[in-house]
Amino acid sequence: MMKVTRFITSREMVQAILLRIEVLVEMHGYSRYQDEPDQYDTIAKIYIAKRDKTVIGTARVRNENDVYRIQRMAVSPSCQGEGIGSAIIEKIQEDYPKEKIYLMCPENTIEFYENFGFRKTDVTQKGEVHTYHRMQNY
Ligand SMILES: CC(C)(COP(=O)(O)OP(=O)(O)OC[C@H]1O[C@@H](n2cnc3c(N)ncnc32)[C@H](O)[C@@H]1OP(=O)(O)O)[C@@H](O)C(=O)NCCC(=O)NCCS
Repeated sequence: MMKVTRFITSREMVQAILLRIEVLVEMHGYSRYQDEPDQYDTIAKIYIAKRDKTVIGTARVRNENDVYRIQRMAVSPSCQGEGIGSAIIEKIQEDYPKEKIYLMCPENTIEFYENFGFRKTDVTQKGEVHTYHRMQNY
């Protein structure tokens, strides 16, 4: 049984950050140690997926002027491919039904986000390790 929520305790927040460090920093180089956590974690909405007492997935949503940005999406390596990432995106879409949402993602996750109606734009951003593509629902 898995639950997705954005009302989280400080203990869950710590688990989410550790998961981001494991997946996004150490496995993929999508983020950097010095950015985990960063200043936006205090103002962003943090989503978690939990199974029993363990955080197995996370993402955050940040407001940028009139649009919202999904960032720091990570699912525990042993739980990937089980629908957890999808459940998080679906919950975000339920919470932001009419809002403009965008995200920046590496090449190999474009298809994942296309499943949810995000479309790739021509905007790219070169990071230290990867090139990120802007995808948006508007
Ligand atoms: C990408 C990620 C968030 C997806 O979450 P997940 O829980 O593994 O994905 P789901 O199980 O919900 O997958 C749903 C569907 O998307 C597909 N999918 C999952 N990851 C994919 C990927 N990287 N590329 C293409 N399709 C993918 C699945 O095959 C599945 O399709 P199906 O329903 O036809 O079987 C997760 O694998 C992850 O954390 N990866 C490492 C970090 C990362 O890439 N983060 C995103 C940075 S923007």
